[in-house]
Amino acid sequence: MDHREFAPPAGMAGRVDHLGIAVTDLEAGIRLYAGLLGLELVAVEEVPREKLKVALLKLDREGGPGCVELLQPLDPDSNVGRFLEKKGPGLHHVAFAAEDMDAALAACRTAGLRLLNEEPLPGAHGKQVVFLHPKDTAGVLIEICSRLP
Ligand code: CO
Repeated sequence: MDHREFAPPAGMAGRVDHLGIAVTDLEAGIRLYAGLLGLELVAVEEVPREKLKVALLKLDREGGPGCVELLQPLDPDSNVGRFLEKKGPGLHHVAFAAEDMDAALAACRTAGLRLLNEEPLPGAHGKQVVFLHPKDTAGVLIEICSRLP
């Protein structure tokens, strides 16, 4: 396989935006990732549509844009609540940054990937998000995210 054929497709920024990690206790998660592992806590906010409380920590104190996103459900009857019930705390999704959401989604559809939401939904931190079906992405729940227009 010639690796040079893999230029970023139209619309993708070519970087991981964040790692989404499901936790049962956000404070304990922050103590682990900020207090012990040394990441910088930048925001805590609620995402009512997803029934979530979210903490955002920078992956790189020296300025890289990637983050860890800790996800604590506010209601067991939510996507992350059901994930915790089934699998326990752990890596929930990997989010890739898009520069042009429409172009990125068009490339995913052309490749035959199913989208869990056809239209981008407002997520945390001023982003819009679309999730890809994990059955089409080697078992990993992948989020495509970009700044809200
Ligand atoms: Co996310």
